[in-house]
Amino acid sequence: MTNRTVTLTDPQSEKTLELPVVAGSEGDPTIDITRLNPELGYFTYDPGYGTTANCKSDITFIDGASGILRYRGYPIEQLAERSSFMEITFLLLYGELPTASQLRDFQRDITYHTMVHEKVNSFISGFHYDAHPMAILSGVIASMAGFYQQNLDVNNPEHRELAAKRLIAKMPTVAAAAYRHYMGWPSAYPRNSLNYAENFLHMMFSVPAEAYEINPIAAKALDMLLILHADHEQNASTSTVRLVGSTGANPYACVAAGIAALWGPAHGGANEAVLRMLHQIGDVSRVGEFIKRAKDKNDPFRLMGFGHRVYKNFDPRATITRKACHEVLADLGQNDPLLDLAMKLEKIALEDDYFVQRKLYPNVDFYSGIIYKALGIPTTMFTPMFAIGRTVGWVAQWMEQSASPHRIGRPRQIYTGHGERDYIEIDKRD
Ligand code: SDX
Repeated sequence: MTNRTVTLTDPQSEKTLELPVVAGSEGDPTIDITRLNPELGYFTYDPGYGTTANCKSDITFIDGASGILRYRGYPIEQLAERSSFMEITFLLLYGELPTASQLRDFQRDITYHTMVHEKVNSFISGFHYDAHPMAILSGVIASMAGFYQQNLDVNNPEHRELAAKRLIAKMPTVAAAAYRHYMGWPSAYPRNSLNYAENFLHMMFSVPAEAYEINPIAAKALDMLLILHADHEQNASTSTVRLVGSTGANPYACVAAGIAALWGPAHGGANEAVLRMLHQIGDVSRVGEFIKRAKDKNDPFRLMGFGHRVYKNFDPRATITRKACHEVLADLGQNDPLLDLAMKLEKIALEDDYFVQRKLYPNVDFYSGIIYKALGIPTTMFTPMFAIGRTVGWVAQWMEQSASPHRIGRPRQIYTGHGERDYIEIDKRD
């Protein structure tokens, strides 16, 4: 808390209220409005919470104007280039980079939780073959409360840590099983000899008929993408996890709610929507037509993978994935015309006043799908890939909230309905 205050004067009551200014270690200061209603009788109105902080957090910092993203103070560019997904998972959960022995122990803990109860596989087999994998993921993760709920006390830090490790470890196993269900392939169990990204590729693509060779380029690219998706402060799905967690619900229910929120095309579902959009555009000659549609208020079409609530500059993750697209496709000896199309679409959009004035830049979802596609991951699995990475941020933020005193989340509203009126018996209604 600073000593600074802001003063509000209500012309109606002529009352004046001094509200404290709360400053974090970085970022814009906030006004603590908790006394606004009891002392001045007002609520605040902030649809979409564009100007409202719902918590204090030490985990991730974003400066939208400068395109800055840091996990526990470390710039995302350095982590993507030099760290690993397991290392940043430790960082996000515990606040510091691990020593070699801490990382080894942590990696072992996660590895030994990658299997799921065999009944989970029979649960997945109950879904229609073409069920969207996000439907399977949200359903199965919520069901895990039935397997691991026994005496789970969310107020016990050891119980919280075990649940966090289970969720991080099992998310790829369930996601890969959802894909294999669609393919009609038998389950592929995790291999303890493989690292996190290698294990996912094995669980996704290995078939009993032959040995599966892990492509190190694919594993490295996947590990980097998981780092980029791990956390992003109070985005819609993380805020959902916090809101559900604020009721004391178990972590499996919280993360299942986060998966549901992430699925929307305005959020994590955008990576799938970008690929569909690029296929729909098809050729650079049609880019103008789609840019026109994106600008037309009467057309619900939006340029998927563009724009962001916080970034009013390049999303640093988009800059990293754009560069990685070229490297990964070149390393894999692939050439994807969709990358050229995406680059041209980005160039044309960023020269158009509509996008420039609204500070609409490519976000994390604009290029990530092109890399997933190059790794052989089907479009419907793109959002589950986002969920695998973001599970770390969800559980880190849930642990942070659960470890300190907090109130149940309960926003207010502006009521615009009828005033009081008396009940009318049905035979008297016209
Ligand atoms: C993610 O919050 C996070 O951190 C999310 C995320 C994370 O890591 O968790 O970063 C991941 O969700 C990235 C965003 C993925 N979604 C998309 O790519 C879908 C397309 N983008 C838009 O739907 C939109 O930009 C949002 C949802 C991302 C942001 O919406 P806002 O902040 O509510 O912005 P807005 O809708 O108020 O838009 C402001 C203006 C509007 O025009 P005007 O009314 O001012 O004339 O910009 C326009 C919008 O119509 N606009 C777009 C646009 N995005 C915004 N116009 C065309 N195409 C777009 N993509």
